[in-house]
Amino acid sequence: MVAQSTKRVVLFASGSGSNVENIVHYFQERRDVTIAMVLTNKRDAKVLDRCNRLNISALYFNKTAFSKSHGVVDILKGLKPDLIVLAGFLLKIPENLLHQFPDKIINIHPALLPKYGGKGMYGKHVHAAVKANQEGETGITIHYVNEQYDEGAIIHQAKTTLLATDSVDTIAEKVHQLEFAHFPKIIDQLLQQP
Ligand code: GRF
Repeated sequence: MVAQSTKRVVLFASGSGSNVENIVHYFQERRDVTIAMVLTNKRDAKVLDRCNRLNISALYFNKTAFSKSHGVVDILKGLKPDLIVLAGFLLKIPENLLHQFPDKIINIHPALLPKYGGKGMYGKHVHAAVKANQEGETGITIHYVNEQYDEGAIIHQAKTTLLATDSVDTIAEKVHQLEFAHFPKIIDQLLQQP
């Protein structure tokens, strides 16, 4: 019998990691998809606690390993990922890493790009800007990663309606719900592509 090939996913996260947890849950019964490792640039990131609880391998790396040497690239080469997923990861991906994994790195952005993208547009800053502009809708963008922040080819977008009464926190919550519903499914679809 031919062994079923398993697709390998590596996740990068810098913060809470609720998307990481959601992705792990989505794939946990799947023998054809493995979450190979979670990598973080924050030694005290809450995502590390989640990984401990979920029995997922996790690794902290420092700036030298990430952007001043091949440390992280070498770790990734060893992990042989089919897909690298940035799930709330705040650093810019260095060019050497991008070139090693062309078309294999995706990111989720908590707004409808090209609006509310670019440097400084992350987390609550995005939702505060959306609120300040009295937008009637916001959403998520899942896109490939290239040399520019938030400018890679868009894979998928989803929208949610906003009310004048929405606060920055309720906007964040609406966006998180969209992320939970869509991100694992899009990862799954990309892994099924030949
Ligand atoms: C998400 O909203 C994601 O879109 C953004 O950072 C947030 C991460 O949340 N890039 P969490 O760490 O997954 O809870």
